[in-house]
Amino acid sequence: MAKLIDGTKIAAEIRAEIALEVKALAKRKIVPGLAVVLVGEDPASQVYVRMKKRACADLGIVSFDYDLAKTCSERRLLNLIDKLNADPKVHGILVQLPLPKQISEAKVLNTISPEKDVDGFHPINVGKLLNGEESFVPCTPRGCQELLLRSGYDPAGKHVVILGRSKTVGKPMAAILMQKAPGANATVTVCHSRTKNLAKITREADILIAAIGSPEFVKSRMVKEGVVVIDVGTNRVEDKTKKSGYRLVGDVDFKNVSKKARAISPVPGGVGPMTITMLLRNTLESAKRHAARKRRPTKKRQRLVVKASR
Ligand code: GUN
Repeated sequence: MAKLIDGTKIAAEIRAEIALEVKALAKRKIVPGLAVVLVGEDPASQVYVRMKKRACADLGIVSFDYDLAKTCSERRLLNLIDKLNADPKVHGILVQLPLPKQISEAKVLNTISPEKDVDGFHPINVGKLLNGEESFVPCTPRGCQELLLRSGYDPAGKHVVILGRSKTVGKPMAAILMQKAPGANATVTVCHSRTKNLAKITREADILIAAIGSPEFVKSRMVKEGVVVIDVGTNRVEDKTKKSGYRLVGDVDFKNVSKKARAISPVPGGVGPMTITMLLRNTLESAKRHAARKRRPTKKRQRLVVKASR
């Protein structure tokens, strides 16, 4: 039977580390701030946003909440982002996706200042990630990497197969794990809806990361003995026995795949808590960078200091 990769436990460890850093910053009167923008009333988005705000409050990160109507115009949202970009109390801006049809997602993501882009979706941060430069890295794939590392499964030299090529998970996941850097150095294959002989490829995976949004898609015949599985899917399936009328399942047939796997992350309690934790960590990082920029003397100030000391 597979070892369980416990995202709740690992997330709690990282949150304790973040809390210590937030406390240290508070002594310097710096409070990390995250603006959380929700447009409309998508039930899943409402749940995610609520969890993000609660996690902020638990750690001493202040969240600034903006709930906009489903009919909100693109201009109104872009104006709000301009305001948040200019607000020194806001270190991170999160606009929950998906957005209603009348709003261009690309325009919104391009408007968020790359320095406050704690989701890592701005083209500048996407480009930096590909170039191997320091940047904000998307939270879900970063959380998957951290799950692997903290469970003792370094992807270096391993064949990692990623199912899904989304810009929020699949593509950045591939970019992260193929980096020439500690915690990466994997051989990466990305599979998607047009991939031929999918099961043949997934059976070659040492590490399989499923992010396609299809309930229990990965069956036991699609994996090899001893594979390490990270399940990113969070799919609601009807379940009349539940009060809510649904239950959450991943992209992996957990019951059967776990009989063959060396280790596997469950849904819920796997990647989900890690995504939020990486968002908190990016917000903390942004607040630290902001404080460092304020401390660093500008060229003009440097000239004045030189003059004064002559
Ligand atoms: N919707 C689903 N996942 C995410 C995420 O990681 N960030 C944002 N902004 N929206 C999402």
